[in-house]
Amino acid sequence: MKKIVVINGPNLNLLGVREKSIYGDKDFLSFFEDLKKEFSDHELTYFQSNHEGALIDKLHEVGFSYDGVVFNAGAYTHTSVALGDAIAAITTPVVEVHISNVHQRESFRHHSYLAKNCVGVICGFGLASYRLGIQSFL
Ligand code: DQA
Repeated sequence: MKKIVVINGPNLNLLGVREKSIYGDKDFLSFFEDLKKEFSDHELTYFQSNHEGALIDKLHEVGFSYDGVVFNAGAYTHTSVALGDAIAAITTPVVEVHISNVHQRESFRHHSYLAKNCVGVICGFGLASYRLGIQSFL
């Protein structure tokens, strides 16, 4: 049994409501219930915050005892040196995920401050990006 946490950053609490043509029409909490059933042999938890410091605190909390973090930092991916440093500081491996293919979008979304410190990056598969992120730890 592995302990894996899915962490979502800013605006991802609005999945299913926000820019549906990009992010789809499913709300994350119902999708997460499906994931929990699918990976019921493992301990899957979820955390979301719109606040950079709260995301850092969560990484510190889980970062020395969990088996994996599946992290969609939203727009902080492209702006946050502090989140990149937090990933470097912890020992739990982190996979960066994105729903959209950020490389097909505006150029400011092409750079990630997190990727260098992550074990890998998954983007462009819709909500299935999270499933692939979880599978990468199993
Ligand atoms: C996102 C991509 C980011 O560029 C954007 O700011 C988001 C969502 C994605 O999942 O595709 O909020 O991380």
